[in-house]
Amino acid sequence: PETITVQELGNRMAERGGNLIKALMKMGVMATINQVIDADTAELVVEEFGHKAKRVSDADVEIGLVSGPDTESEMTGRPPVVTVMGHVDHGKTSLLDAMRESDVVSGEAGGITQHIGAYQVKLASGARITFIDTPGHAAFTAMRARGAEVTDIVVLVVAANDGIMPQTIEAIRHAQAAKVPIVVAINKIDLPEADPSRVRTELLQHDIVVEEMGGDVQTVEVSAKKRLNLDKLEEAILLQAEILDLKANPDRVAEGAVVEAKMERGRGSVATVLIQRGTLRVGETFVCGKEWGRVRALVNERGERLEEAGPASPVEVLGFNGTPEAGDDFIVVEDEAKAREVSGYRQRKDRETQFVKSARGSMEQMFERI
Ligand code: GTP
Ligand code: MG
Repeated sequence: PETITVQELGNRMAERGGNLIKALMKMGVMATINQVIDADTAELVVEEFGHKAKRVSDADVEIGLVSGPDTESEMTGRPPVVTVMGHVDHGKTSLLDAMRESDVVSGEAGGITQHIGAYQVKLASGARITFIDTPGHAAFTAMRARGAEVTDIVVLVVAANDGIMPQTIEAIRHAQAAKVPIVVAINKIDLPEADPSRVRTELLQHDIVVEEMGGDVQTVEVSAKKRLNLDKLEEAILLQAEILDLKANPDRVAEGAVVEAKMERGRGSVATVLIQRGTLRVGETFVCGKEWGRVRALVNERGERLEEAGPASPVEVLGFNGTPEAGDDFIVVEDEAKAREVSGYRQRKDRETQFVKSARGSMEQMFERI
């Protein structure tokens, strides 16, 4: 049901909260400033003050944001988006760093310049893979919770000396729930105690049947430290991507999802955004979760400024008016007015939900005391 707090209604009418409370009292409604009232009551109050009420529904505000599906002819091939998951210390970041070193582009530019949680690797063959690192895979959970299907493939990293551990199982569950195919990287095979066949057997207990056992899940034995079989892992990912036949329309306004976001001194709010459809350009206005902004700069994983970023590109976006959250949606809108309207609406809605939650909390406390 549509609701609003007395305070918020007062703000929108530019009337004092106290006057609203008095008006409500005359109507027989005893309300405090922070109380939530329903839309019908609110409408009566608005009319009492001689204003005209206009109810804004979700659909009215958000409508301009929803764009139709792309037609088949507009779609072109795009790189796979791969999320690397696994137990703590099994070597996710090491593996990503090792693969990034084989990246022809960063090789030319003189290696790694900065760490971001997502980057794209261009292989010698010309093929590209977008990787998302997940420290504790919090980002992945947030995105999945919001239904943003940003990941095409999960690379499950399992240390061959350690085997399946609690967070390995958790990662498997996330991938299975999101119906995302898994490629298993059995890491640390350089260690004398490495036992890759044990890992394969243990996976069976979690409904992962690897190719060696007649299933369709690929496994690759690798060593991030000794740089063994990294090319085989890349091949396995590309093979899986080929099966998925991934496509997107680059010729439309950009839509994406936030991989990570933070406040940086001197740079303001910065978010790494994974572009999922369309092409994002410097100067464009956007809404992102409850925030909005105008793209001041786009920066890639090598610290280079870009003019634009297309589908499956992870890119740092500067120009936010506030810091968004991992998993937030990112959508380009036509102008600042629309951006302000949507972000303002989402912030109000969020405040109201928060208030209803806390009101419910204090009601429960009250009853406990009785
Ligand atoms: P979290 O992000 O904390 O979950 O860890 P992670 O999975 O990213 O692991 P990380 O890459 O930080 O590696 C953990 C430790 O394992 C480090 O000390 C690495 O040097 C070591 N390590 C990673 N890969 C290998 C490998 O192939 N062989 C050996 N011997 N050690 C490795
Ligand atoms: Mg790590």
